[in-house]
Amino acid sequence: MGDCDEEVDFDLLDPAIQKIINKAKAVREKAYCPYSKFAVGAALLCDDGAIIDGCNVENVSYGLTICAERSAICKAMSEGQKVFNSIAICAEMKDKFVGPCGACRQVLAEFNVNLDVYLCKPNNEILKTSMAKLLPLSFTPNWVSFSS
Ligand code: THU
Repeated sequence: MGDCDEEVDFDLLDPAIQKIINKAKAVREKAYCPYSKFAVGAALLCDDGAIIDGCNVENVSYGLTICAERSAICKAMSEGQKVFNSIAICAEMKDKFVGPCGACRQVLAEFNVNLDVYLCKPNNEILKTSMAKLLPLSFTPNWVSFSS
């Protein structure tokens, strides 16, 4: 991760952020990942305080796999949620923090280019970053006009 990201202490975080971190950890247990065995959980904090979670869902046709982050975004849409403040993503890769893949960065940026992103390990080590840092100079809906 870049120098601008900071490790944060779970106990000092806002209770709403603690909640999405706990949700991301819990939903990770539900990941369907028989091929990679790499479980990921994500939880979005919506502007009204609602929390929408998601896990990765793999497929024997590997390329059809849906990451936890996009799984949460799709669930959010069908729950009528479109405005998100933050996302927590939980995965375990030795001593590293796991950031969202490129496809998920683009999908998350669609809804909030300034989304706060909390990368979490199961032991509650947390790295705070943001979509602005993860996807600089992004191609967002602001750039596109379908009206003309
Ligand atoms: N995966 C996610 O769900 N989110 C990420 O941010 C990175 C990767 C999943 C996809 C696949 O099921 C497994 O992790 C291994 O790539």
